[in-house]
Amino acid sequence: MKLFIDTANVNEIREAHSWGIICGVTTNPSLIAKEGRDFKEVVNEICSIVDGPISAEVISLKAEGMIEEAKDLAKIHKNIVIKIPMTAEGLKAVSVLSKEGIKTNVTLIFSAAQALLAAKAGATYVSPFVGRLDDIGQNGIELIKEIVQIFKNYPDIKTEIIAASIRHPIHVIEAAKAGAHIATVPFKVLEQMTKHALTDVGIERFLKDWEKVPKKS
Ligand code: E4P
Repeated sequence: MKLFIDTANVNEIREAHSWGIICGVTTNPSLIAKEGRDFKEVVNEICSIVDGPISAEVISLKAEGMIEEAKDLAKIHKNIVIKIPMTAEGLKAVSVLSKEGIKTNVTLIFSAAQALLAAKAGATYVSPFVGRLDDIGQNGIELIKEIVQIFKNYPDIKTEIIAASIRHPIHVIEAAKAGAHIATVPFKVLEQMTKHALTDVGIERFLKDWEKVPKKS
């Protein structure tokens, strides 16, 4: 499974990239707003750090506006993927953009039916939101399993599944077990994934024992 980072913070992106574990970035309007910087400037900087798919989201609600925004954003860098919300207008836009070779990530997916439609429209990626489903008492990982099964049944579907709205390491592991192609993970969760109490205890014990090793100089 590939890992993307779900943030617009360039310091977090630089740090995670230096670990050699991420190959893409997803942003959304809320994440961009947190940075208090110009949208295109941030996206440009992200593209200079990670050489992989960088999702940037449109804000228009009509297909025409989405397409216009998408074409403008796609000019920023060859790696830009246009994030489009899962609506009928969004599907129209995805259908046009995919025929023009512009990659899309259909976001705010909360059902297998939505994922199937997005794939049929030509989406490069679909982003089912695991955490937000869990928040309302539905099982987000079950949705990932359903979409994986459907896409596997039809090998002509080339759309990749990005497990999104990830809240903790277990979500990442469950998404990987379910067969999601990608998980897009907040920096805090990536940090949590590096840690285990026994690792810390182990390091401490090794260092203590090392003090007992006779040193010549
Ligand atoms: C996906 O691409 C979205 O940016 C993100 O995963 C949303 O997560 P949230 O539910 O934590 O806002």
